[in-house]
Amino acid sequence: MQGSATITHPELLLLLIISLCTAVIVEMKHVSIKNSLGSGKNMTLHCQSKDDDLGEHNIAYGDEIGWDFNVNVAGTTLFYCDLGWESVQQYHFDVYSFARDNVRCPSGCAWLVSAEGIYGLNGETGFWEFIYHWPGSSQKHSIQSGETVRNR
Ligand SMILES: *[C@@H]1O[C@H](CO)[C@@H](O)[C@H](O)[C@H]1NC(C)=O
Repeated sequence: MQGSATITHPELLLLLIISLCTAVIVEMKHVSIKNSLGSGKNMTLHCQSKDDDLGEHNIAYGDEIGWDFNVNVAGTTLFYCDLGWESVQQYHFDVYSFARDNVRCPSGCAWLVSAEGIYGLNGETGFWEFIYHWPGSSQKHSIQSGETVRNR
């Protein structure tokens, strides 16, 4: 006597579960933000999305913070942070925007916070790009926005 819900091929069910898990893993993105400001310089970072508040963190020089997340099916995933160090107060920037980053950093986005501004790793080219410069910093303009820097 077999009921209609009886699984006659458990190996097929296992295969289905494995492929569902794989699909989730493939969709996972990672964001990391590293303090490269210089010896003894801390930064505060408060990152959020519409649904998550990751809280405010103090990050010492050389340390980084990172997290994994899934992008939503609507393609509107957005994580943004407010960053502070020395005279820079609550500098607001996007660390993952699906519209900007789905192609630019397919597995996620890496950021380096430096004394001149914030570099982002372009996952397609493998180059660090100078993307955000601190407001009102006219000193140290040796690197202009848009230039790429290798292996920082
Ligand atoms: C910087 O961060 C370290 C580690 O969290 C902490 O011990 C130190 O007091 C901080 N320095 C300043 C100036 O906030």
